[in-house]
Amino acid sequence: MTLQQQSTSEAESYRPLVPEAQVKEITELRRALGELGGEEGEQTVPFLGLTLRVPASVMTPCPVSPMLGGAVFAEVKPGDRVLDMGTGSGSLALIAAKKGAEVLAVDLNPDAVAAVRVNAELNQVGDRVEARESDVFAAVEGRFDLIVFNPPFQWFAAADYADVAGTDAGYRALTRFFREARDHLTEDGRMVLFFSTMGDVAYFEKLVADGGFTHKRVFTTTQPVLDVAVDFTVHRLS
Ligand SMILES: C[S@@+](CC[C@H](N)C(=O)[O-])C[C@H]1O[C@@H](n2cnc3c(N)ncnc32)[C@H](O)[C@@H]1O
Repeated sequence: MTLQQQSTSEAESYRPLVPEAQVKEITELRRALGELGGEEGEQTVPFLGLTLRVPASVMTPCPVSPMLGGAVFAEVKPGDRVLDMGTGSGSLALIAAKKGAEVLAVDLNPDAVAAVRVNAELNQVGDRVEARESDVFAAVEGRFDLIVFNPPFQWFAAADYADVAGTDAGYRALTRFFREARDHLTEDGRMVLFFSTMGDVAYFEKLVADGGFTHKRVFTTTQPVLDVAVDFTVHRLS
């Protein structure tokens, strides 16, 4: 079964928890963003004092990414063992490493894993960042003081690896993440997660509540995405 076939059946069986009007708005946003198309070729972008090389198939940090990067920087303590789940270009992994953490950066997308290795060397933290392909926790062993995750926000079927940055069919990955995260945290472990109203916030909040975590919303901002006002929130769980 191809990624797209598997993804389509998972997405079709998902029933969103947000009201129907929001489902319509989110679905329309996905269609409109899809029409814009993606970047062509590798880009070199600045991010909070770092320089990132980002292949076309990997998510480029967006206007709200510095808010999440700042929250990660504030949360990391030197010497922490940090897991960057869904690392993309490695932006959050590198921020944590710059603060003195030992970081494992994982992603389903092999191009992302290659990009993190390049970016870690480029930003002089190659000795503190290990990158590995993993479907959620499948290739992750051990426990971490801090897990960070900026997940794909939407639940639709993904067309390819590049699309997996924005959509997680039926929230299969997010659901597994919450089911297994506790087993990968130290006793005082904490998590910094990102989510937005581009996705099913009600389902995200349910996963948080069902996980029994202490939950704090660190920061929320509202930004226009095309002509829609979207809330982006940094969550701290412990
Ligand atoms: C929204 S992007 C975040 C990228 C980066 N962390 C950032 O903040 O710029 C989500 C990332 O999760 C990855 N991803 C999606 N599904 C995954 C899975 N099942 N296991 C691991 N990574 C996954 C995507 O490939 C993508 O790089």
